[in-house]
Amino acid sequence: MNLKKQLDTEFERTLTALGHTDAPAVVKQASKAEFGHYQVNGIMGAAKKARTNPRELAEKVVEQVQQGDLSNILTMEIAGPGFINLSLNQAFLSAELETMIGDDRLGVATSQPEKILIDYSSPNLAKEMHIGHLRSTAIGDAAVRLLEFLGHDVVRANHVGDWGAQFGSLLAYMDKLDAEGAQLATELKDLEIFYQSASALFKSDEAFAATAREFVVKLQSGDEKCLDLWSRFIEESIKHCQAIYDLLDISLTPGDVKAESAYNNMLEGTLSELDEKGLITISEGARCVFLDEFVGKDGDPIPAIVQKSDGGYPYMATDIAAAKYRGQDLKVNQALYFVDGRQALHLNQLYAIARKAGYITEEQNFVHVPFGTILNKEGRPFKTRDGGAVKLADVAEEAINRALTLIGDKNPDLTNDEKQNIARIVGIGAIKYAELSKNRTTDYIFDWDTMLSFEGNTAPYLQYAYTRIKSIFRRADVDPANLKQAIMLNQTAEVSLALKLLQYPETLESVTEDYQANILCNYLFELSQLFMSFYESCPVLKATDEIRDSRLRLCDLSARTLRHGLGLLGIQTVEQM
Ligand code: ARG
Repeated sequence: MNLKKQLDTEFERTLTALGHTDAPAVVKQASKAEFGHYQVNGIMGAAKKARTNPRELAEKVVEQVQQGDLSNILTMEIAGPGFINLSLNQAFLSAELETMIGDDRLGVATSQPEKILIDYSSPNLAKEMHIGHLRSTAIGDAAVRLLEFLGHDVVRANHVGDWGAQFGSLLAYMDKLDAEGAQLATELKDLEIFYQSASALFKSDEAFAATAREFVVKLQSGDEKCLDLWSRFIEESIKHCQAIYDLLDISLTPGDVKAESAYNNMLEGTLSELDEKGLITISEGARCVFLDEFVGKDGDPIPAIVQKSDGGYPYMATDIAAAKYRGQDLKVNQALYFVDGRQALHLNQLYAIARKAGYITEEQNFVHVPFGTILNKEGRPFKTRDGGAVKLADVAEEAINRALTLIGDKNPDLTNDEKQNIARIVGIGAIKYAELSKNRTTDYIFDWDTMLSFEGNTAPYLQYAYTRIKSIFRRADVDPANLKQAIMLNQTAEVSLALKLLQYPETLESVTEDYQANILCNYLFELSQLFMSFYESCPVLKATDEIRDSRLRLCDLSARTLRHGLGLLGIQTVEQM
């Protein structure tokens, strides 16, 4: 149950009943527990609209609510110019906790189900995945998990780039190596080196460059040899991606790949339709779409090129076909594109064109969910020493190795296998959490020491808090399922912890408003902190029977909520570390 929403509804209803229509009550979590648990902030706005005194209006609202059902669970206090501070009483909180404990979903209701497509990860297959792909991949996967948990029909769309000019030199290079008798499978083991060698040759060798260009045309016109080389390359590259997804606990599978090339046979028809609808203009030999809403700083219109003058189909053409497929064939209610903020213009043009063409209806919500860039400690884009892209596989490996050292120092008694397993979960958790805990729209600094610290808002801190709770149960030798004692909330630390636990559903709901996973991260961090203070000030195992059992149940619910929340972020927990 969503406490905030329930309170919001009640206060809104009351304001309306008092004649203040369309004035939202806006109930917010109180920032300081001593002021109450929630605060009604909308009274001032409503009073201003109606030109009445806000404190007087607040008094009327309180009086009215006191007569309703909520009066037995709520203490209200008018504060400042017209806020109402709300505290929920302990009997109510205990009863709510009981419901949450008995619910596998921890009190989170399912939403009205929608079909939601999530376009994420979507690397270009010409190169190996690099650190920049971490953002779309981690943030998108967290959204997938959350929306699925809320009951939506989620379509994972890995719109990988497997088509276009860059494949010309790759194919020409494969062809050359093949002719020289090299083992292609071996050569393709390191795609990054392969790509670099091919590009270098393209720059230095005119004849090779000419062949490369020829190969693009041949590939696009369905030449068998080119297609064969191309599919061998793509297959290898997808294998690389999948290995990374598996290592990073990303829920994408090979079946979720729908590559750019999958839309090839739609391109001609789609462009003819755009033409029939009068959307196409020829400009410098290229087929373009000009829309009034896209003009540059100089006032000149910005074209979206849908077919180049040489006949090739660019990124935009494939994306329009994909949008048509998603809108008309899949009939999605929503399509969320988790793509770098620098592609905002491209995606906004895409949605506008697809709407004009009637591929997306008024009701279908296509949105760009953007994010910033990953920077190094000096605040510059993250690169290897020689200026190359940092491979995601290397980042993952380093994270695991660093975690292994930390775990070894922390708990030398673990067996090697245990250490390896924990290090993977902690290391991978750390890089994903560093990603998810930032506001996604800003650039962020990738810093090993902060993300792997056991202090502060990090995955290791949360995972460690979880193991601390599990160790309480190991020491007590108690199965939480057998605890039946009603929860008693006598200490402030118990009340604060209880309230935080009960705010889990409303937290998840606010994440879905804008896919800011950091809201969930902050929640879990605060929950762990409140747990730690509770644990410091309220003895558990040393308390007498009833209190002990009540506190153990709070411990267990805290552990379950932590584990569940981390799970929605795609981060695992371990029993000990
Ligand atoms: N492959 C693109 C890139 O690496 C991202 C694709 C995003 N999805 C889309 N439908 N455009 O930049």
